[in-house]
Amino acid sequence: MSIITIELLNKIKEHYTLDWLNGTHNFKHWARVFANGQQLSEQQGVNSKVVQLFSVFHDSQRRNEHLDPGHGPRGARLALHLREYLPLTDDEFELLTIACSEHTKSRTHDVISVQACFDSDRLDLWRIGVKPDPEFLCTPMGKLPATIEAAYERSINKISENPFGIVGSQFETVVV
Ligand SMILES: [Fe+2]
Ligand SMILES: [Fe+2]
Repeated sequence: MSIITIELLNKIKEHYTLDWLNGTHNFKHWARVFANGQQLSEQQGVNSKVVQLFSVFHDSQRRNEHLDPGHGPRGARLALHLREYLPLTDDEFELLTIACSEHTKSRTHDVISVQACFDSDRLDLWRIGVKPDPEFLCTPMGKLPATIEAAYERSINKISENPFGIVGSQFETVVV
């Protein structure tokens, strides 16, 4: 079940300074990261809530579409700013903070939920024409050829009819 709400997405959008409709790090990327994460959350021990929220925060504070090494920690700070909207325990929130902060600088992490966050993002490298390398994926499912192929299919198709698990007609209010 999705814990991403229209209200939360609109709050995040208020803080997003890049092009909402275009670009390689906008909500369409987030929606694919969400879908990748849903699949990866089938693995034992993965906290789906953390992976879902990672999808909408990890690139939310980018200041450009190129090199921006501080965007992960800034995304984590936005999550803290919007903490009241996040149905997470303190331990879960800590994992979300780690995943956002570390997603550009750590190859992997001891906790599988954080690994699944990293994989969900890296599997969408397809969007820039880069095939994800299993060596840089962390979870057993993430490394599977079928998972990498499924992520490719997501990258070439329109985002799903219910992005982030939200009914499409409701989601339209966030897109515009
Ligand atoms: Fe990022
Ligand atoms: Fe990303």
